[in-house]
Amino acid sequence: MQIDLTVNGEARRVQCADNTLLVDLIRDDLGLTGTHVGCDTSQCGCCTVHVDGEAVKSCTMLAAQAQGTQVLTIEGLAEGDVLHPVQQAFSACHGLQCGYCTPGMIMASVQLLRRHPQPTDAQIEQGLAGNICRCTGYVNIIAAVKTAAGLIAAARSDATATHGGAR
Ligand code: FES
Ligand code: FES
Repeated sequence: MQIDLTVNGEARRVQCADNTLLVDLIRDDLGLTGTHVGCDTSQCGCCTVHVDGEAVKSCTMLAAQAQGTQVLTIEGLAEGDVLHPVQQAFSACHGLQCGYCTPGMIMASVQLLRRHPQPTDAQIEQGLAGNICRCTGYVNIIAAVKTAAGLIAAARSDATATHGGAR
């Protein structure tokens, strides 16, 4: 079958089997291997991407269900050479060790921070409950999400000040 979708802002057309999973289309057909496969049984969250702005585990979705959608993967998060604040915070706070879970953790964290711009520990734990990390013990991941919240708030306040000053 043919699937037309937008991935990281780019229109893509892919021919694939009816039973192709979205994660396999992303990795194998589009070559975007930043999205990982950890379990293939919807447990680990390594495969998390955004579909029409919602974080989804792409191993739980058929590629056909992504027809006509906007998909964002970890490769599309940075703006040019500038990492997304959540990426910056994971790096700064050492929110990763082996890094296998990290793309999924970051994509889930971006959604979490949209819902809870200043999240509590409990909101972070709940927001990342579907993402498993076997290395970090989560302490630095929680610190990274809180740091990212601060970076995003500071960027918003700078943008408001700049915009206001230009008027
Ligand atoms: Fe999708 Fe683990 S690979 S949840
Ligand atoms: Fe290794 Fe999370 S950093 S699994």
